Amino acid sequence: MSHPLYDGAVEILARNDLGHYTVPTHGLYPFQWNWDSALSALGQSYVNESRAWTEIETLFDHQWPDGMVPHIIFHKEDEGYFPGPSVWGTERPVPTSGISQPAVTGFAVRKLFERAKDLPSARARAKALLPKIQAWHDWFFATRDPEETGLVAIIHPWESGRDNSADWNAALSRVPTEGVGDFQRRDIQHAAAAHRPTTEQYQRYIWLVKHFRAQGWDTAKLHDASPFRVVDPGFNAILLRSCADLAWLAEQLDEPAIGARAKTQSDKGLAAMEHLWSDRHQQYLCYDRAIGAPVDCLTVGGLLPVFTAIAPDRSARIAARLEDLARRTTYMIPSHDPHAPEYDGERYWLGPAWLIVNYMIADGLNRDGHTEIAARIVGDSMKLIVESGFSEYYDPMTGAPCGGPHFTWTAAMVIEFLKQTGGVE
Ligand code: GLC
Repeated sequence: MSHPLYDGAVEILARNDLGHYTVPTHGLYPFQWNWDSALSALGQSYVNESRAWTEIETLFDHQWPDGMVPHIIFHKEDEGYFPGPSVWGTERPVPTSGISQPAVTGFAVRKLFERAKDLPSARARAKALLPKIQAWHDWFFATRDPEETGLVAIIHPWESGRDNSADWNAALSRVPTEGVGDFQRRDIQHAAAAHRPTTEQYQRYIWLVKHFRAQGWDTAKLHDASPFRVVDPGFNAILLRSCADLAWLAEQLDEPAIGARAKTQSDKGLAAMEHLWSDRHQQYLCYDRAIGAPVDCLTVGGLLPVFTAIAPDRSARIAARLEDLARRTTYMIPSHDPHAPEYDGERYWLGPAWLIVNYMIADGLNRDGHTEIAARIVGDSMKLIVESGFSEYYDPMTGAPCGGPHFTWTAAMVIEFLKQTGGVE
């Protein structure tokens, strides 16, 4: 059955499909991005099941020997993006960045497997991916949690997927800008400068890249060498959900050793997550590992833990926080609390609503029985599409489309929501 929004979404997936990988949108992001691919594969799985598996397989074809799965794969040259391969200098056969991104692939692969129509193929493809995903998770815990706390740190704001969130402001202010040199930003040639990070932030982003490059991209050294080390509850929740889903998959695929390992990682992380809870704010907070202090900042990163199996009481409190935000917001979910001073409804992760975040949070809320607030989030997501098209993100008060147009993972989430709500068969 066809539906105008479904057809529009399928058209965007096709438009951004380069055969074995998908770009988030042409122009602004002309390569393969890590968590974009995993989440886009979800929507794609309803359109072309085999192609959805290929998206994730391509990503893992570029996994580093140490287990890291890079945040960008520069499949072919494109002058329109900065920082490109020559700035990263990772010297991989196909150039990649040298940092990672939220590990949502374990979750996505479970979904692909559960909904597969071609089961023999799904079994074989999931089985081949399983050890690779486990190696990536192991890499995170080994290199980003050297003290074995159960939770990993990000060492660059771009790893979080929430690039310019105010969560990073204090930690980023300790990153120098000296010696970073001149460069030309390309993002503001494709999208409005008022929707994007500031140039000062960009200087610090690039300083970190050059600093890591100077360590020879030895990822075992980078955590301790980085002035930026933040434990993000949202990032960890995604990783822990993937660990739990990988454990489930391993059981289906007769891989008990992987299953046991993934479950231990998930259990340990979930227990440690409790240290990030703030009674005062009734949500989770980031923790700045470099100075050993929580980050007093009200972002959606502190609500994302509902995506993983947190305790029912915590989940209920997150639902309550979201209900409070829903009373103050036209289109859920603002990435930053509109009452907080840093809020900016158009600037990337300082306020705008993102459909991928809405999807993950609604998934957890539904699992835990908070269906009313989940329905509000899904309903608002669909309204945004009808009113403003398939944009990268949206002003949560006006619904104005922001960032890049024709966005792949936005389209993929629309397909997911339509399937969930019975909008299409
Ligand atoms: C931006 C987003 C990031 C995403 C990328 C490509 O950098 O912050 O989460 O992966 O764009 O869409």
